[in-house]
Amino acid sequence: MWDYSDKVKDHFKNPRNVGSIENADAIGQAGALSCGDKLKLYLKIDNNIITDAKFQTFGCGSAVAASSILTEMIIGKSLDEAKKITNKQIADALDGLPPEKMHCSVMGREALEDALKNYFSEEDYYSELEEEKKEGSPIICHCFSISEKEIIDAVNNGAKTFDDVSKITSAGLACGRCKDAILNIIKQNLKEDKKEFDSLSPIQKIIKINNVIENTIAPELALDRGGIELVDVDGNNVYVKLQGQCSSCVNAKRTLKNFVEFKLRELVDNSLNVFEK
Ligand code: FES
Repeated sequence: MWDYSDKVKDHFKNPRNVGSIENADAIGQAGALSCGDKLKLYLKIDNNIITDAKFQTFGCGSAVAASSILTEMIIGKSLDEAKKITNKQIADALDGLPPEKMHCSVMGREALEDALKNYFSEEDYYSELEEEKKEGSPIICHCFSISEKEIIDAVNNGAKTFDDVSKITSAGLACGRCKDAILNIIKQNLKEDKKEFDSLSPIQKIIKINNVIENTIAPELALDRGGIELVDVDGNNVYVKLQGQCSSCVNAKRTLKNFVEFKLRELVDNSLNVFEK
């Protein structure tokens, strides 16, 4: 059971500004029904001020609460002010969201962004928008507002895998969209490990890959009655037989092959490519 703030409960039970706006000046959408959450945001804009906002959502209580508070936050704001609203500000306005529900605030931010892009041309929208930064470093995990510098600091302090970085910074613990970017940062800052892998003989590489498959990937797939078998390794190409699926793949919108590749890149070497045989 998630631990919700009173504000989340209030906005879930009594959502503000539910519905649509006829002749809306801008409409934005985010999420997808196939993923369980979808938000449609309607804006009425007068003289660059958002004079009204309404939403329709299909999703969990946090999605309703985040959408509801977002409409309250943007009504009366100028478009420039609305552009700068971050998902963290949406979550903060609700006195926080459980980590697993931070993606609901991201969905609110994305629907707002989509509406504003539809109102401006996309080019104009980005030309005026500053990249979101924290102390001068670009934000990589938007759910938890974790910057590139914080991830590099974690790596410099001994984090070697995505899970290590998540434990130290919380990055990647909600929607997971930042995983690939985090992985890249780890790779760039663990150059010695890369050299170490490149220096292995073909047999040593197979053994290393197979160890990760048998000890980490296969047990995880087995939880969802999935399976994996290493067929061959040719250079940086890894050939596997796969069966079933895994729940974490569905949550992160990955295929099973993507999941295996992600794990091998994370735990063995980022240059590896996975192919199904
Ligand atoms: S962007 Fe959602 S967990 Fe990082």
